[in-house]
Amino acid sequence: MVILKSKYEIEAIRKACQVVAECHRTIAPLIKPGITTNEIDRIFEDIMMKHGAKPYQKGYKGYPYATCASTNDVIAHGFPSNKPLEVGDIVTIDTVAELDGWLGDSAWSYAVGDISPMAKKLIRVTKECLDLGIAQAQPGNRLGDVTSAIQRHAESQGFGVVRDLLAHGIGRDLHEEPTYMHVGKPGKGLRIKEGMVFTIEPMITEGTYFMTIDPDGWTARTKDNKLAAQYEHTIAITSEGPQILTMQ
Ligand code: MF3
Ligand code: CO
Repeated sequence: MVILKSKYEIEAIRKACQVVAECHRTIAPLIKPGITTNEIDRIFEDIMMKHGAKPYQKGYKGYPYATCASTNDVIAHGFPSNKPLEVGDIVTIDTVAELDGWLGDSAWSYAVGDISPMAKKLIRVTKECLDLGIAQAQPGNRLGDVTSAIQRHAESQGFGVVRDLLAHGIGRDLHEEPTYMHVGKPGKGLRIKEGMVFTIEPMITEGTYFMTIDPDGWTARTKDNKLAAQYEHTIAITSEGPQILTMQ
C-alpha cells in the first residue's frame, strides 16, 4: 500500500531532506585527494546532530555507519574507511537523516581531483538519468514513464542500469511502497499521484549491470569491476509536478 502524504507531512519530510542537502553541500568542496570517507561520515553525522536529526542508516538492519561511501566499482552500500581518496576516484556518498520521525534520503557521486573521460561521462550521464526521471514524475504519469526515460538514456550512452537495488517510497519508514527498478516501459506500472513521496536513485554502470556482494554482506560491486555511479533525490508529487525535497 502506498502511503500518501499531506502537504503538512511533505513539509516535515522536506525538513529532514534539507539536512541531507546541507550535508552534501558541505562536503562537495572538501572532496579532494587525501580526505577519507571516515572523515566525510563524521562531517555528515555532526551536521545531522547540529540540527537535532539522527543518522538513520546507522544501525539500520545492522548497517554500521551514517553514510554509505561507494568508490569506483562499488555500486552502493560501501563502508566508509580510513583509506584516503585518490586522484581519479569517483565516490558516491549516500545518507538518510531522521528529523521528528520523518526521513530524507539522497546520494551524490563526486569526482576526486581530475578523473578519466570515461568517469566524467559516467557521472554526467547518471545525473542526467536522475533529472530525466524526475521530469517524468508527473501526476497522471506511470512509474514506467520515469524508469524508461532513465533506461533509454543510460543504454543509449552504452551504460548499464542496475536491477538488483531498488528505489522506494519514503516517509516514516525508509522503504515504503512503491519499490521499483530503474528500468521499464512507458505507460506501464503504478500511476503517479499527488501526495506520493519516493526516491529516484539510478545506479548506472560503465559495463555490466550485474553485481556481487563482498563478504562484509553489504558492499555491492560491479561484477566486471568497472565503474558505477549514482545520484538520488527524495521527491514529492504535487498537483504542479515533482518537487525535489533534497534539492541542494
Ligand atoms: N540510502 C539507501 C537507499 O537509497 C539505503 C542505504 S541502506 C543502509 O535506499 F542500510 F545502509 F541504510
Ligand atoms: Co539513499
